[in-house]
Amino acid sequence: MQLFTKWTVFVIFILSAIVTTVYIYSTEVWKNTTALKFRFFRRTSSSKMKLTNFIANTSRTYILFWDHPWSVPTEGISEGNLGGCMGTYDRSKLPDAGAVVFHYSNLDRESMPWKHYRDPDQIFVFSSHESPSYVIHGEHRHSMTKFDDHFINWTMTYRTDSDVFAPYEQSKVMNKIIDEGGKWIDSKLAKKKKVALWVVSNCALLRGSKMRMKYTDALVEAGLPVDRFGGCFNNKDDFKELSADDMEAYKFYLAFENAQYCKDYMTEKFWHNSIGAGRVPVVWGPSKKDVEKLAPTGSFIHTDDFKTPADLAKYLLYLDSNYTAYREYFNWIEDPDEETLELAKTYKLTGAYRLCKMMLSNRVRQSHPSVSDFFYNENKNCISSQENVIK
Ligand SMILES: *[C@@H]1O[C@H](CO)[C@@H](O)[C@H](O)[C@H]1NC(C)=O
Ligand SMILES: *[C@@H]1O[C@H](CO)[C@@H](O)[C@H](O)[C@H]1NC(C)=O
Ligand SMILES: *[C@@H]1O[C@H](CO)[C@@H](O)[C@H](O)[C@H]1NC(C)=O
Repeated sequence: MQLFTKWTVFVIFILSAIVTTVYIYSTEVWKNTTALKFRFFRRTSSSKMKLTNFIANTSRTYILFWDHPWSVPTEGISEGNLGGCMGTYDRSKLPDAGAVVFHYSNLDRESMPWKHYRDPDQIFVFSSHESPSYVIHGEHRHSMTKFDDHFINWTMTYRTDSDVFAPYEQSKVMNKIIDEGGKWIDSKLAKKKKVALWVVSNCALLRGSKMRMKYTDALVEAGLPVDRFGGCFNNKDDFKELSADDMEAYKFYLAFENAQYCKDYMTEKFWHNSIGAGRVPVVWGPSKKDVEKLAPTGSFIHTDDFKTPADLAKYLLYLDSNYTAYREYFNWIEDPDEETLELAKTYKLTGAYRLCKMMLSNRVRQSHPSVSDFFYNENKNCISSQENVIK
């Protein structure tokens, strides 16, 4: 009899413990008033946490950009209509904002809204267009800890695995060129008289900047004519003095990023300086797989396809001498395949327009346990400052 009572007490104790846990979990966690209560979720391997469904308050159509990137007024988007939302830098609009965007350089403990104001229906967005390599080694921002602990709901970067994909190509290039078609190719190719162009200002700041410099040195040594301009060659002014015809004359542009194998890190060097200017991009930095995902089919040359810079130089000289073979790099314009058309569709929306669309329609409440993990969890080649890292 006594044994039975002990067991009853024990079972009741266990049951009430379970009930209490479930109760706390359902009221506190899902009510979700502060980030602190979510800490135990960090054990999960997923980089973001889906919380529950929510109906967005669509009467809040402002997107508040907390500050211009690096607080430089000419940086960042211009204020105004973003396709149904209003982009603004006016912090008094905070209560009317459906989303607040924090560029990584805007972090400042004192002015952040988090201590004074947090509306669970408002989406806090982390934004970066720089590679983690640059942010760590160029700007010495080693962690984003102020952004951790579920502060951030959505990420918005050049990476395709961001919540809001915000690529460097913003429809100004690819869609416009496809619309113009063969006419565009012929007008561009008629002016080609020189081989390769490279403009660069960052020579030794990062592992990637040193490696790309070595690579282009080797190309030049192997006999490839590369006109190199910019801060690294003390001839910035010479570049400014190039005529429009000179600028149109180059067949290739060295789209060499400042970081190697950072996920999806492909910038205006590829889009604006190469594709948009009618120059075939020669890519160093992002993996070939990433470039294939982000670029029109057959539009580029990747350095990883060549054993040595000399082999690449040889191939580029061959293309320089064979117009038919060179022109094949523009086939995607006249005859785009399905993937290219799909990509063009994706690029019709800029990051900010995509954010607006998602903000007005997204029903999933979520937050990132650690935005540092999201941003810095990269392979060693991307993140290291040492040159000799193996993939
Ligand atoms: C939605 O947001 C607007 C503007 O901030 C506010 O006036 C309104 O009360 C909100 N509605 C709900 C249901 O929260
Ligand atoms: C030039 O390129 C075309 C297309 O790739 C190829 O068929 C042709 O054989 C090449 N000509 C020479 C002389 O290499
Ligand atoms: C945003 O994150 C906060 C803090 O984790 C959370 O309380 C809130 O529910 C999230 N909101 C949305 C809309 O995802």
